[in-house]
Amino acid sequence: MEIFRTPAEIQAYALSAKRRGKTISLIPTMGYLHAGHASLIDIARQRADIVIVSIFVNPTQFGPNEDLDAYPRDFEHDRTLCEDHKVDAVYAPAPDSMYADDASTWVEETVLSRPLCGASRPIHFRGVTTVVAKLFNLTLPDYAVFGRKDAQQLLVIRRMVRDLNFPIEIIAAPLVRDEDGLALSSRNRYLSAEERKRALVLSRSLRAGRRTIEGGGLETIPTVIELMKKEIEAAGGRVDYVEALDTGSLTAPNADTTELLLAVAAYFGTTRLIDNQFIQVKS
Ligand code: PAJ
Repeated sequence: MEIFRTPAEIQAYALSAKRRGKTISLIPTMGYLHAGHASLIDIARQRADIVIVSIFVNPTQFGPNEDLDAYPRDFEHDRTLCEDHKVDAVYAPAPDSMYADDASTWVEETVLSRPLCGASRPIHFRGVTTVVAKLFNLTLPDYAVFGRKDAQQLLVIRRMVRDLNFPIEIIAAPLVRDEDGLALSSRNRYLSAEERKRALVLSRSLRAGRRTIEGGGLETIPTVIELMKKEIEAAGGRVDYVEALDTGSLTAPNADTTELLLAVAAYFGTTRLIDNQFIQVKS
């Protein structure tokens, strides 16, 4: 497995692979890798000759009062996980090699990035789309794998790829949970044992909400949302949002809606967690 530290090195590697006719899969990550990331790597492996994992805690997607400095990092652990999953190359740039001091160009999606996490984290998705566009230019992938854990991110990236004609197929990977239902996340390490137990309300109430909407249709949405908010607060969480939106437009569902995103963000202590369920709507 090769490890690259600068944009020039990884781009030369990718260009050389493309010239030899190889296909490339990219898995963009911020490191502190867990079984959710590993599942993305395994999906990528099935598609392409060469699998590249990027590990970069991207400063431009963190707001001024967010956890950039505290974000967990463990490169040796990440390297071993990548080796175990037969990754060909890891791209782990130093922060100052990714952005010039006077960088002044952004890639911004302006519709799907506004609701949900975009409402409480206004600059977040602009940072994500900018860094992912840069990573696409550096690694020249045929495929890029994104997890449904970050459902809005997946939809925003798909829209960016469509709108800017990136010649890349975006593959959606299932959300991986711990045995007790908690969605795996690098941020789970911030939780105390007590907070972790309380946070199980997210997956539990989402599952119940999904069953209710599947059984009773779109009319049940307001009741489901109110109940979920109550349950999360009763468990000691502080709700940022609970919403059910059409996955095509991320607006309120209507008669043409075929798929819903039931999504939640809530704080347990100071840790903000997100979780979701995709729900097929019967016509
Ligand atoms: P990060 O949070 O490290 O996630 C990297 C990828 O792993 C994302 O596509 C995310 O959806 C996926 N992932 C994380 N937890 C998962 C889980 N429990 N099940 C399935 N997939 C999971 O998302 C980012 O990094 C960044 O915003 C990035 C795209 C790398 C841009 O900086």
